[in-house]
Amino acid sequence: MTAAGRGRRGPGRESRLVVANWKMNKTRPEAIACRDALAGRLPDRADVEVAVAPPFPFLDDLADPEGRWALAAQNCSSESAGAFTGEVSAAMLASCGCRYVILGHSERRKYFGEAEAMLAAKLARARDAGLVPIFCVGETLAEREGGLTEEVLRRQVEALERDPREAPLVVAYEPVWAIGTGRNATAEQAEETIGRLRELVGARASLRVLYGGSVTPGNAAELAARPAISGFLVGGASLDPAGFSEICRLTGPTGPV
Ligand code: PGA
Repeated sequence: MTAAGRGRRGPGRESRLVVANWKMNKTRPEAIACRDALAGRLPDRADVEVAVAPPFPFLDDLADPEGRWALAAQNCSSESAGAFTGEVSAAMLASCGCRYVILGHSERRKYFGEAEAMLAAKLARARDAGLVPIFCVGETLAEREGGLTEEVLRRQVEALERDPREAPLVVAYEPVWAIGTGRNATAEQAEETIGRLRELVGARASLRVLYGGSVTPGNAAELAARPAISGFLVGGASLDPAGFSEICRLTGPTGPV
């Protein structure tokens, strides 16, 4: 399948998007078992698009020929091709059937030193290859408590301004203090910050802004009740196919944004 092969859950302005970010988890047999469990459990609804971001070695295994979910990568190189040992290019990902690529995740920023200039290059490579970026932004607890959330987000979205091409874009608001901590942002916090983010990013032909950070079947419905939230980027809870399917079921169609 090429990047153009979108499956029957194609993106649309009104469809919400729920993305499973497996991070560096699962062996290949575990990934295949999870795929099969998802295939049997995911709710069949056209108003919620689902994407799965497995580790690179399992991309081919996770491609769903029936199009129940789209394939996403967790990262791509800032370079197009060439002598960059260990790197994976956006064009390679597109040729493996990826529709999305997660960029700028806080773990990449924190542990691998990814900052604005590199992320702007990755965004451009993703766009060149026809991938839809899922661009992650979010403040630390100290930044939130210091009243710096807006300043941090403004700086982080600058990478988006360098590539104003009119192509679909997904932004994921992931407060660092909520990632993997079991402490999700409240629906009010998420809605308010996402509203501000939409203003900072500006009008785009296709923009969805997801919330990520300790999303579980227990809090998905409350967060999804906020129309500004276009869906979720789910880490820990996406490793369990039953829980992830339940989050997808609870997400529901979006309201006007
Ligand atoms: P979490 O991770 O759901 O485990 O908090 C979210 C993410 O890092 O994308």
